[in-house]
Amino acid sequence: MDDRKTIMLVDDNIANLKIGKNALMALYNVFTVPSAKKMFELLERNKPALILLDVDMPDMDGYEAIKILKDNPDTLKIPVIFLTGKSGVEDEVKGLTLGAIDYISKPFSPFILRKRVEVHILVNSQQEVLEKQRKELQEFNNNLQNLVDEKTKTVVELQNAVLKTMADIVECRDDVTGGHIERVQAYLKILVEGLIERKLYEDITKDWDVELLLLSSQLHDIGKIGISDSVLQKKTALNEEEYEIMKRHATLGVKVIEKIEAESSACDFLEYAKIFAGAHHERWDGTGYPKGLAGEDIPLLGRLLAIADVYDAITSKRPYKKALTHDKAVKLILAGKGTHFSPELIDLFIEVSDTFVATQAGFTYTSPLGEEGKSSLDHN
Ligand SMILES: [Fe+2]
Ligand SMILES: [Fe+2]
Repeated sequence: MDDRKTIMLVDDNIANLKIGKNALMALYNVFTVPSAKKMFELLERNKPALILLDVDMPDMDGYEAIKILKDNPDTLKIPVIFLTGKSGVEDEVKGLTLGAIDYISKPFSPFILRKRVEVHILVNSQQEVLEKQRKELQEFNNNLQNLVDEKTKTVVELQNAVLKTMADIVECRDDVTGGHIERVQAYLKILVEGLIERKLYEDITKDWDVELLLLSSQLHDIGKIGISDSVLQKKTALNEEEYEIMKRHATLGVKVIEKIEAESSACDFLEYAKIFAGAHHERWDGTGYPKGLAGEDIPLLGRLLAIADVYDAITSKRPYKKALTHDKAVKLILAGKGTHFSPELIDLFIEVSDTFVATQAGFTYTSPLGEEGKSSLDHN
């Protein structure tokens, strides 16, 4: 196969075409073309490595022709050298301005013509190689990015699965609270979205990654991992001593998450989880645990989770209490406004409580709702 490059030599003068062809034919396939019009016809089928273009031609001159070549993405990159009798500096400047890579005046030395064509073809093919490499590199980078994204997704999925499993293990042992974690997460979502919609605590919520914090709320009772079965699975209400043991789950939860942090590295997910675990039993009036924080000293996420957590505790059946209705839960929670719960967040809870009841209705419980019984808001 002839792998020589093709040159298009465009000139209306037959003698010039001959001289040019003779100068180049030892190294290249040379198409001699008598007019710009003919050149465009040929370009439909052949893309040469270079075009040598005369300026003065009937019908269309070289300046006009190069403008069309450079306007067309298909021919834009074909290098053009003007080969012309117009030898003024202005002509040369005009030709180069229009996009030609060189300007050779007639009469020319065949040797010089050949050398200049050779140089330009070499430069152009190197540019093509570079362009190809750049594209390959770009593609490689894109693939690499996709690979990294895919791996990251797998790691995140795995991490979530591990953490979800940890939460499930706790829930399994604490079998009285089946589905508690999932429901609390759903209620928390309503509160968080309501808060953001109403632009409350914007200075805090603006930094939240809602999806991540909802996921991390699954770990709020992770500290129950260290509470003995005799307390965790007790079928009757806890006595004072047992209750004190149960209360440890908040501090233990923080410790468990700190342990994960020490083994891996700190991240928002674990930061949120620590707040949830440590602050969901604090009370607005300072009588909660583990730290007895009061008011705005209780982290906002802890205050929100407290409402979601207690709502679920009231509306779920426990061995030591029956499930109460949504209306009763609202009443009880409202009664805790300013003592157990942040007043502002209780106002929000009341505003979004229709969504609570709709969400709650979507969950299946092991026992029917609606029966009234003794309730404990802290054993959850
Ligand atoms: Fe708890
Ligand atoms: Fe809980």
